[in-house]
Amino acid sequence: MTAPHPGGSPHLRTPTRITVQQHILQEQKRFPGASGEFSWLLSGITLATKLIQAQVRRAGLTDLLGADGAVNVQGEVQQKLDIYSNEVLAQCLSVRESIGVLASEENEQPILVHRGSENANYAVVFDPLDGSSNIDVNVSVGTTFSILRRPEGVELHEPEKWVLQPGNKQIAAGYVVYGSSTILVYSVGNGVHGFTLDPSIGAYMLSHPNIRMPEQGKYYSVNESYRDSFPPRYAQFIDRLRAGTLGQRYASRYIGSMVADVHRTLLKGGVFLYPPTTDNPQGKLRLLYEANPVAFLAEQAGGMAIDGERRVLDIEPDSIHQRTPLVVGSRMELADFERFIPSDAAGV
Ligand code: AHG
Ligand code: MN
Ligand code: MN
Repeated sequence: MTAPHPGGSPHLRTPTRITVQQHILQEQKRFPGASGEFSWLLSGITLATKLIQAQVRRAGLTDLLGADGAVNVQGEVQQKLDIYSNEVLAQCLSVRESIGVLASEENEQPILVHRGSENANYAVVFDPLDGSSNIDVNVSVGTTFSILRRPEGVELHEPEKWVLQPGNKQIAAGYVVYGSSTILVYSVGNGVHGFTLDPSIGAYMLSHPNIRMPEQGKYYSVNESYRDSFPPRYAQFIDRLRAGTLGQRYASRYIGSMVADVHRTLLKGGVFLYPPTTDNPQGKLRLLYEANPVAFLAEQAGGMAIDGERRVLDIEPDSIHQRTPLVVGSRMELADFERFIPSDAAGV
């Protein structure tokens, strides 16, 4: 957010100094009775991501580059920074009394914290380090998170039931990109707001208030090396973008860190896709902690997110690490993609 420079040129603007904590306190008024607990919960995420970014920035100087040798529940090799990020998030969040359940890409089962506390009413689901195979080559990585409330009638000791909710039940979601700067983007269902970490003071400062995704963008973002194994309609759609059918020829951008590719798509518009492939018939991305937070933010910013057929946020999950195809982006591109949805699937 910017304000006119006092007494100066009307073109010279200074940022208003709003920290993410101030912003969250303001937003929290949308939750009657939340009385500070929600801002305290989110401060666990901001603290953890500051700690993670500090290690990401120094990764080449410490022993934190490379694989740990372990394999996670997805069958993927864990990087040392995956493990570090997961531990930091778990530590920072598990001391927040309002959190009862934590679920992570790196843990097979959700973790129950504050067992028995009636004050523990929230679950946080996260991908501690997204795009971690990029870390060794100094390319942007990130963290994604989704916050859910314990559903009515679900007992404290049933952590799976806390998190197996459709994305339309998220009460907040966001991500952090550890890129050329560190930026946190979040929403509590009242627009999307971005905060850049000022490293000199260690605070996230409001830099991107009320982000709106452009109606149309210039880029499509997909791993085109899998093209031959996409369902044909994905390839047809990419051909239309490249041929100029939507009024312009699209350029391609693909970082390989979802959070960074999505951040560009949120700010610049266009479309990001991770389609089904022969090897991954449900795509690669995980519904609960990758696709859902991204879909929540995209919709809040005026864009759309579908699994190729239906709204991502309406998918009823049946397992914590389930995968989903993802098509997310501007309205114009998504409307065009929907032309290729088979009529028996449309509107599902
Ligand atoms: P993660 O590092 O959390 O396992 O996620 C990696 C994901 C995602 O960030 C990215 O969009 C995708 O992997 C890239 O996969 P491909 O190499 O198959 O394109
Ligand atoms: Mn990921
Ligand atoms: Mn990850």
